[in-house]
Amino acid sequence: MTEQNLVYFERHGDIGVVIVDNPPVNALSPGVPEGIVKHIDAGAADPAIKAMVVIGAGRSFIAGADIRQFGKGRPPLARKPYDAYEQSSKPIVAAIHGYALGGGLENALACHYRIAVASAKVGLPEVLIGLLPGGGGTQRLPRLIGPKAALDLIVSGRHVPAPEAAELGILDRVVPSDADLKLEAIKFANEISDKRPLRLIRDLVAKLPEGEDIFEAKKKEISRRARNQIAPYNNIKAVQAAVEMQFDDGLKRERELFEELVNSNESKALRYAFFAEREAQKLPDVPKGTPVKTIKTAAVVGAGTMGGGIAMCFADAGIPVQVLEISEEALEKGFERIRNNYEVSVKRGSLEAAEMVKRVALISKATAYEQIAEADVVIEAVFEEMGVKQQVFKEIDRVMKPDALLLTNTSALDIDQIAEVTSRPEKIGGAHFFSPANVMKLLEVVKGAKTTPEVTASTMALGKLISKAPAACGNCDGFLANRSRTPFNSEMVIMLEEGCLPEQVDKVMVEFGYPMGPFAVGDLAGLDIGYAGRKRRAEADPNYRTLPIADKLVEMGRLGQKTGAGWFKYEKGDRTPHPDPIVTDLINLMSKDMGNTPRSFTDEEILKRLLFSSVNEACKILEEKISYRASDVDIMWLYGFGFPRYRGGLMYWADGIGVQQVYNQIAAWHQAYGDRWAPSDLLRRLADKKVSFREAHTLVG
Ligand code: 3HC
Ligand code: NAI
Repeated sequence: MTEQNLVYFERHGDIGVVIVDNPPVNALSPGVPEGIVKHIDAGAADPAIKAMVVIGAGRSFIAGADIRQFGKGRPPLARKPYDAYEQSSKPIVAAIHGYALGGGLENALACHYRIAVASAKVGLPEVLIGLLPGGGGTQRLPRLIGPKAALDLIVSGRHVPAPEAAELGILDRVVPSDADLKLEAIKFANEISDKRPLRLIRDLVAKLPEGEDIFEAKKKEISRRARNQIAPYNNIKAVQAAVEMQFDDGLKRERELFEELVNSNESKALRYAFFAEREAQKLPDVPKGTPVKTIKTAAVVGAGTMGGGIAMCFADAGIPVQVLEISEEALEKGFERIRNNYEVSVKRGSLEAAEMVKRVALISKATAYEQIAEADVVIEAVFEEMGVKQQVFKEIDRVMKPDALLLTNTSALDIDQIAEVTSRPEKIGGAHFFSPANVMKLLEVVKGAKTTPEVTASTMALGKLISKAPAACGNCDGFLANRSRTPFNSEMVIMLEEGCLPEQVDKVMVEFGYPMGPFAVGDLAGLDIGYAGRKRRAEADPNYRTLPIADKLVEMGRLGQKTGAGWFKYEKGDRTPHPDPIVTDLINLMSKDMGNTPRSFTDEEILKRLLFSSVNEACKILEEKISYRASDVDIMWLYGFGFPRYRGGLMYWADGIGVQQVYNQIAAWHQAYGDRWAPSDLLRRLADKKVSFREAHTLVG
């Protein structure tokens, strides 16, 4: 496309309107900044023009720089839009709808005025892709709204709704969401066209609040979450420059700090994750434009740990949801838990009390299937037993309207066996939430053998509707996420048999970037869940690798936090895990009984033992076409298991080590430990052909 098409100019009386038209989100791709400069300069030079408006065509203002262009070594622009706006002798109004993010907001901040519709959102989210606002945002925003508020916005990267942005002073006027923004902006431009002197943000001073070291306080606040990262700290340094330096020196400092980030592994991984998330929405066997079911009401069967959380997801999205249980008593217990969860959020200040009342009111009780018959979607979350699930699905099939989406939250059971008891197996699919369901963002969308593309597409769309990150896969024991994670879970316990301790494993994984170590996570979730799964698998498979230490712990009544002890011990009312000598003794004793001599482990060995075992399993999953592509594995690990986002995801991380190296190590462990480490055929072929994990699907065909 030429810059002519990407940016064009309209004349409305005395007002010149510069329109950016680069679908879908008006990113600042090559040609867009050049087009803006050309038209702004032309408008400034035209005596018939008194003021100008910059506006976006389509669904948005400008969503920022074109993220795909970073690292491509494009030469800097000879003249930037910021200079064109600031050097204009005529006032310029940025007119915002949709999103003004990153470079988009930076463009608006270099204009003289900003007007937006109420539904618009603005923000500087660069930190979320490992960058900082490199177009003057770190220098202008603190001057406009003060360094403290600017620091909060820039370091969090959050999208700010227009009414709040107006309160903060970012916007000069907000018009109703349904107003004609172009007309309103032209009206505004006419009102201010003669106003002089022209106010530029660069001429303002960013004053620190007295007696407060906002920069040190922010570093402290983010220290846990920003572990191993540099971008959040460079963002802080850049805002600090806004209060300590003259504007132009601050811009130079911002540029230096930006350059440190743009080629960092952290930013590359975060940019990869951004696109992987979007790629996950594209399903090769679901044609584009497949109709999706409109969801206005929902029902959940089972108000236990998961059912309650799933009901909250609907209520949080403003969708009325019914919850069906076997008895009034079980329903009451479920509701109690839902209310408690909301109350904790209110106490923490993350939810207004009035909002809690609204959400609780959206959740209603049901004890007979007839009561939920009109729901657009029903999600089953009863006990993980095939017989119970089949019984429930027979009932669901009996009452639900023909076009309802019928979904199961099973963790590992065969979706096809559940579907086959109904008269409409093609309407059944998996919607696998992760615990706690109202918090974890992953929604694993599972396709059964007969599930139609409409049902899969509708389940993906449902995920978006309730603010989840949906990613799809096929049907197998454990589906994609849990199946790829299972070898990790086994290996962490097998390492104990060789002399490792839970506290050492947890330390390594927390240092790697997980919010919690895997043993502490096990204690939080409850060790009885894994125990039951192992028993089930051991019964079905005589070669199943049992985990005697993990089993013994459960048989001792150590089920995790809920019993005050699991892999670690817990003080009453405190969730901090403490190493427990009883567990150390048990590990020593049992590993000796197994004939092992305890040995020491390096941190690197622990990390690779855990993650490589899962990489190998993920290759099997890809080979079996249960997964479309490695990037979907990454999305599931990022959103389902808390894998550090700045490492891109399991497979992206493994690519950083190299397919050949991963293969060699797995082959060596195959020799040392036997069959469970047998390299998958796909892994062997990837290594032979020097194809990366990210391109693995190209070898699957
Ligand atoms: N660059 C390149 N492509 C982009 C893009 C960007 N900044 N923003 C969105 N896209 C693409 C997406 O990849 C997607 O492409 P696809 O259809 O081929 O998958 C398409 O645009 C639509 O995007 P979404 O599916 O995400 O659309 P939504 O409506 O759900 O969300 C959005 C819109 C909130 C704008 C979201 O796309 C987003 O967050 N974009 C990124 C915003 C951002 O990070 N901006 C800062 C960029 S860095 C910068 O400006 C540096 C500067 O300071 C120097
Ligand atoms: P839970 O035991 O906490 O809750 C199950 C609920 O279902 C109970 O309240 C029970 O009364 C109800 N129930 C049982 N039979 C019923 C029936 N016939 N009709 C209506 N209600 C019935 O179990 P949890 O943990 O919530 O698990 C539910 C499902 O979610 C299982 O399939 C599980 O595998 C899956 N899952 C669990 C996760 C977890 O971490 N707990 C994570 C992801 C999925």
